[in-house]
Amino acid sequence: MSGEKTFYLETFGCQMNVHDSEKVIGTLLHEGYRQVESVEQAGLILYNTCSIRDKAEQKVFHRLADYKKLQAQGKKFGVLGCVAQQEGEKIFERAPHVSLVCGSASYRNLPQMLAQLEGRSTLQSGVPHVSPILGDVGRRDSGLVAQGSPLVRITGPRVTGLDDRETDQCFETEFTARTNPHRGYITIIEGCDKFCAYCVVPFTRGKERSRTSDSVLAEARQMADLGYTEIQLLGQNVNSYKDPAGKPGSRKTFAELLAAVGEVPGIKRVRFTTSHPRDFGRDIIDAIDAVPTLCDHVHLPVQSGSDKVLNAMQRLYTREQYLERIAWMKSAKRGVSITTDVIVGFPGETEEDFHQTLSLLDEVGYDGVFTFKYSPRPNTPSLALDDAIPDQEKSRRLEVLMSRQKEIQITRYKKYIGSNIEVMVEGRNESRNQWIGRTSHNKTLNFTAPADASPKVGAYVQTRVVGSFPNSLLGEMVV
Ligand code: SAH
Ligand code: SF4
Ligand code: F3S
Repeated sequence: MSGEKTFYLETFGCQMNVHDSEKVIGTLLHEGYRQVESVEQAGLILYNTCSIRDKAEQKVFHRLADYKKLQAQGKKFGVLGCVAQQEGEKIFERAPHVSLVCGSASYRNLPQMLAQLEGRSTLQSGVPHVSPILGDVGRRDSGLVAQGSPLVRITGPRVTGLDDRETDQCFETEFTARTNPHRGYITIIEGCDKFCAYCVVPFTRGKERSRTSDSVLAEARQMADLGYTEIQLLGQNVNSYKDPAGKPGSRKTFAELLAAVGEVPGIKRVRFTTSHPRDFGRDIIDAIDAVPTLCDHVHLPVQSGSDKVLNAMQRLYTREQYLERIAWMKSAKRGVSITTDVIVGFPGETEEDFHQTLSLLDEVGYDGVFTFKYSPRPNTPSLALDDAIPDQEKSRRLEVLMSRQKEIQITRYKKYIGSNIEVMVEGRNESRNQWIGRTSHNKTLNFTAPADASPKVGAYVQTRVVGSFPNSLLGEMVV
C-alpha cells in the first residue's frame, strides 16, 4: 500500500446523492486517490448519507459502529450528505472515530479538507487518475466551475465542511466520475423551498438554487461528445427551475431547458426528476409532444388522495388540481407513463383519508408507486404533531396500498403484450439468458436475442413484448 491514498464510498438515498457521489469520486480521483471496493482495503472510508426517514439515518450510524475498530489501523472515516448537513458536528459526539463531516454544498472544498485531514499544510495538486472500473474522470466544461470561497473549519484532527447553503454557486465540483458510460445525471437545481410538513430536505439541502441553462446545456453537449445518449435532469423540484443568468428574454423556463437538452445532437433520451404538482406546468407536456427525445414518463409525487391530509402536509395543491395535471398527461400525443410517491400514516390520516388515496390510485392508473410509512423527522413542522398512528397500522395500510397497486400494474402491463417497444440495453442476466432493457416509459423490459445478433450494452433495439409481470415486461428482440 506504501503511501497510496485509497478510499471506499458507500451511497445511500436518492438520485441526487448518487450523482453527488460521482462528483465526490471525480474530485478524489483527481486528488490522486484510488477507489477500492471494500472498507478493509481503504485508508479513507466515506458514507454519503440520507436523512429522509429515520431508518435511512440510522443506517450510517450502524455502519460506523460496525467498523469502529478499524480506526486502530489508521483508517479515517468521513460522513457526507444529508445526515452530515443535518447533524453537523454532533456526529463527532455520536461517532468519535469520524474525522470528516461534509454537506453536499461543500464538495468543491473537498481537496482542501482532505489536505487538512492528511496533515498537509498546503494544497497539493494530485495526479489525475483514471480508474478502469469508473471510466474517465471528466473535467467539466470550464464555464461550469463555480468559484466560491472555501469555508473549511478545522477542529483538531477533525474537519467539517458545512457550507452556507444559501449561496448560489455552490453545488458544482470541477470533476465528476460518472459510473455509467451511456446515461448520466445533470443537476439543474439544488435545494427546496417547499417545506412540506414532513420533509427534511429543505433543511439538509438548503434553499433552491438553479444552474444557468448555458451551463446545463454545455454539460449536456460535453456528455453527448463523450458518447452519452441518455440524460436525466435532477432536482428536488425541477419544475421550480429558474434560469439565473442570461439576457432578459433568453432565460429558459424548465420546459424550454428540457426541450433544448432534448435537441442536443446525439442525445436520444431525456428524463427529469422530481416534479412537484404545484409547479408542474402544461408546457412540460407540450415539450414532450414536440420533442421526441423527451421520455414519455413523468414522476409526479402525490403523497395522499385526501384534501385534508394534503393540506396538513402543506403540499399546496388539492386532489382536484393534481388530477388536472394528470388529465394534461393523459391528453399527450404519446401515452405518458405516470409514477408517484405516497406516504401512509401521516398524523391525523383516518381510514376514510386512506381510502381516498386508494381511490386515487384507481382513478390515475399509475405504472409505479413508491410507498412510505410516515417517519417523524428533525426540524420539520409535522414533528410537533402527534405521530399517533401505530407502526402496525401504518404497515397494514402500506400492504393494502401495495396490493391494490399490484393489481393495477398487472392490468396495465398486460396491455403492452403484442406491441413493439424500443429499449436501451442496460445489461445481461446470464442465468436467465436474457438481456435487460429500459423503455422510454422507464419500465424494465427483459428480452431474448438470437446468439448471432447479441446487442451491445448502451445500444437501442426494437423488441416485441410477449409477456408481462407486475413490475416488468418480457420481450424478444426484433431482428
Ligand atoms: N422532492 C420530491 C421527493 C422528496 S423525497 C418531492 O417533492 O416529491 C422522496 C419521497 O420520500 C417523498 O416524495 C415522500 O413520499 C417520501 N418522504 C419524504 N419525507 C418523508 C417522511 N418524513 N416520512 C415518510 N416518507 C417521506
Ligand atoms: Fe421535500 Fe416537499 Fe421539497 Fe419534495 S417538495 S423535497 S417532499 S419539501
Ligand atoms: Fe435523502 Fe437527502 Fe436525497 S435526505 S432523499 S439523500 S436529498
